Amino acid sequence: MDKYLNEIKVDENMEFENETKRQYYYMNLCKAYVHNQEQKLGRKLTACINTFGCQMNFHDSEKLLGILKEIGYEETESEKADLVVYNTCTVRENANLKIYGRLGYLSNLKKKNPDMKIALCGCMMQEKHVVDKIKKSYRFVDIIFGTHNIFKFAEILFHSFGEKKMITDVWEGTTEVVENLPSVRKYKFKSGVNIMYGCNNFCSYCIVPYVRGRERSREPEDIIKEIEELVADGVVEIMLLGQNVNSYGKGLKNEISFAELLRRVEKIEGLERIRFMTSHPKDLSDELIDVMAESKKICNQMHLPVQSGSSRLLKIMNRHYTKEAYLEIVKKLKDKIPDISITTDIIVGFPGETEEDFEETIDIVKQVEYDSAFTFIYSKRSGTPAATMENQVPEDVIKERFDRLLKVINEISSKNTDKYTGQTMEVLVEEENTHEEGLVTGRLTNNILVHFKGEKELIGKIVKVHLDEAKGFYYLGTLVD
Ligand code: 5AD
Ligand code: SF4
Repeated sequence: MDKYLNEIKVDENMEFENETKRQYYYMNLCKAYVHNQEQKLGRKLTACINTFGCQMNFHDSEKLLGILKEIGYEETESEKADLVVYNTCTVRENANLKIYGRLGYLSNLKKKNPDMKIALCGCMMQEKHVVDKIKKSYRFVDIIFGTHNIFKFAEILFHSFGEKKMITDVWEGTTEVVENLPSVRKYKFKSGVNIMYGCNNFCSYCIVPYVRGRERSREPEDIIKEIEELVADGVVEIMLLGQNVNSYGKGLKNEISFAELLRRVEKIEGLERIRFMTSHPKDLSDELIDVMAESKKICNQMHLPVQSGSSRLLKIMNRHYTKEAYLEIVKKLKDKIPDISITTDIIVGFPGETEEDFEETIDIVKQVEYDSAFTFIYSKRSGTPAATMENQVPEDVIKERFDRLLKVINEISSKNTDKYTGQTMEVLVEEENTHEEGLVTGRLTNNILVHFKGEKELIGKIVKVHLDEAKGFYYLGTLVD
């Protein structure tokens, strides 16, 4: 193995026109090595990518898979693979604990297949204490890289071939945005598109700004070009991704607003649906609401994390809006876009949360009537201001509030879902139904799922479906010719 590696010519001093070219050079080197291994073993090499966390991570994993496929790996769902990649999340502590648990399992697999490579990347790897712990207690891990140099995966992987020592390459930050690397989409007809990276908001509970770095927007021309290429390749729905899409465009040479970007994306012929996330209420402009109201392609959906209904807590959370200001935005959205579906994130048990604060949260949930809400138990993240705040709320109090909140949310969202029963609406068909043969599953523009009788040939098409019956969070419907 090592002998063959010596035969692959590597020119470390070679100059490249840009970083993309450099990475393709390393992909080719990896390809030669992988090809040789295949011949030796008489089979393809397999790779398994396991993704934790948010849409951004899932999209990053499509890029990692694109690189691996280019190199010649075959994708597998099984962790009994030649290469296993964990793309990690660290927003809440549970996510970290899960990774440590699974690493124990991977170490057993590696004992059976010593040539197996284990790579860890994503937000968790941006934390020094995590990397230190892995170096000390999980020495069988081969590669650690972070969120800023994900584009360098091929180069790092190449250096790890034939190398027994762990390779660690984590950057503290970057201003670089590397374009045009390969990517493999999970769905043929829909795709995420990064419009910006990082976050500048420093909400006091949140670790993201520390692990994803400062806000960097991509050039609008690069975004449009990527979407045009996706559409040419069969994509009809895109999800524009950023931690705070409403502040898109700041810092670019020619500054542009998110609303203006949407206007430009709308013009792309062949594109049918536009979604985006996440919106920070403090930066949500009237211009954006107007663009949404006028648009034929932007979906009737707004994910608008509120986090808490207590203006007192919102201030300590560093959210820069009050309960009243948030409700004002919701009113504007509902006035101008009558069928809009509003969803949110809520944290229960932020330090110092009193019963009165919590009741404000229940109250805002009732006033907004969210279509759905992700609820999170506050998790202490070391390094964030909230971690050292006094008055951490006892676990049993949090649990009781969490259950109460969930009940209110479920009642409201199931009542909301019933709103459209009897109507005929457009559905983008996504997949065959996993529970019942002969059914397919699709989404309404407001993101609600619909199951109905249909052939798998409909996947990727937008069709009209009569919504027969609401079942809590989804509909059963009938295809209308
Ligand atoms: N504890 C609990 N939830 C958190 N979130 C972010 N940080 C924390 C934390 N420390 C939630 C927020 C955010 C979502 C992505 O994760 O609600 O909107
Ligand atoms: Fe975290 Fe706040 Fe940035 Fe969202 S806006 S990623 S909650 S710091």
